[in-house]
Amino acid sequence: MARAQSSGGNRVDDIPLARRASPLRKPSRRELKLIALFSLLLAIFLVVFSFTVFSKFVKPGFVGGNVAPSADGRLLGHFPYQEVSKDSLIAVYPGLEIHRDTYEALRAMRSAAVSDGVNLVLLSGYRSIDLQKQIFYGRKSARNQIAIERAKVSAPPGYSEHSTGYAIDLGDATRRDTDLEVEFETTRAFRWLKENAARYHFVLSFPKGNPQKVSYEPWHWRFEGTVEALRLFETANEFRRAQGSFR
Ligand code: DAL
Ligand code: ZN
Repeated sequence: MARAQSSGGNRVDDIPLARRASPLRKPSRRELKLIALFSLLLAIFLVVFSFTVFSKFVKPGFVGGNVAPSADGRLLGHFPYQEVSKDSLIAVYPGLEIHRDTYEALRAMRSAAVSDGVNLVLLSGYRSIDLQKQIFYGRKSARNQIAIERAKVSAPPGYSEHSTGYAIDLGDATRRDTDLEVEFETTRAFRWLKENAARYHFVLSFPKGNPQKVSYEPWHWRFEGTVEALRLFETANEFRRAQGSFR
């Protein structure tokens, strides 16, 4: 086979490899601009991609890198709950929705209460995680509270029973001054609920001295009258049982 010759008469094989390569050419301004543009587009893509992956895999209840849920999933005492799907909700009146199953049970419970001369007022029901975020962070800053203090009266977003559509806040129509106040426990409505709510599968979520260490909320009841609801509250109930607290 003929061997390649260089123009100076040397065979190519005689030239050291390092010297055979042509020296690096300085990129033109146009090429530099293209490289800069390409790097910028790549950086934007990486930021958008990381954000998408992060939002997809991080649970909605994630509220910041400095607060990690405990081993059993609780955050500041509250268990995680996802938002119920919209088609499971029913509007009791404009702006107040609850789970269909909660609605049926509440309807029956309210009419039984009326028969006993007690008028239960529905104060609050389903809350989206976004609304819970406004409540938690909005009130926290308004009251100059840190998250630990606020979590005693309000769950962090992604950790409220209200997002399931099964939790309701109840008041007494004759004692509206006690709405969402501990004094609600002095009303006829509360006494009636203590006696009768279990018949309709409503449970007081945060009784006095509850093991989750959430403030006592005599107005906040959750519905556990279906397997679906029971499954959602299983971890909370298991925790209650483990702490020897049943009501
Ligand atoms: N008030 C209860 C704890 C909630 O915000 O879900
Ligand atoms: Zn509540």
